[in-house]
Amino acid sequence: MANWKIFVALVSMLAAAAAAFVYQQKQREPASSGISETKVRVEANKAEQIYQEWGCGTCHGERAAGGPQGPSLLGLSAHWRRETLLRYLKDPVSVRTADERLQQLSKRYYPISMPAFDGLDEAQIETLADYLLKR
Ligand code: HEC
Repeated sequence: MANWKIFVALVSMLAAAAAAFVYQQKQREPASSGISETKVRVEANKAEQIYQEWGCGTCHGERAAGGPQGPSLLGLSAHWRRETLLRYLKDPVSVRTADERLQQLSKRYYPISMPAFDGLDEAQIETLADYLLKR
């Protein structure tokens, strides 16, 4: 009989310890803003990786601040809406022919011009565009 009581006591202690543990873990969970900051960081890392892998930096500079073969990509949100930028990254010529500023820009870097990146998939292009629009 005594053994049985000890067993019950042990089980309830374990249950209490488990409850305390769960409570502590809950306290440690980051606030929702923490989660979205992490997400933003992950997206930025993805975009930076695409930027490097696809050689954007060879013309626009490692930090996107421009170089002899391509303009700076900082502050793009002043000139671009998301949709048009997505289209431009897939097919620069079609957007450029309807845009005076891009034609001037293109002349400045002649004979180099922005290549079409049709090898990038839709998700990669969106990741890049969203990232560039925030810089
Ligand atoms: C071979 C050089 C070269 C490469 C590589 C290149 N670009 Fe460009 N890019 C240019 C040039 C030159 C322009 C100027 C406008 C034009 O030619 O259409 C330009 C223009 C742009 C613009 C418009 C800038 C503005 O002021 O509105 C964006 C956005 C852009 N490039 C993004 C990218 C991204 C993202 C990549 C990589 C996926 C990339 N470029 C790769 C040469 C390049």
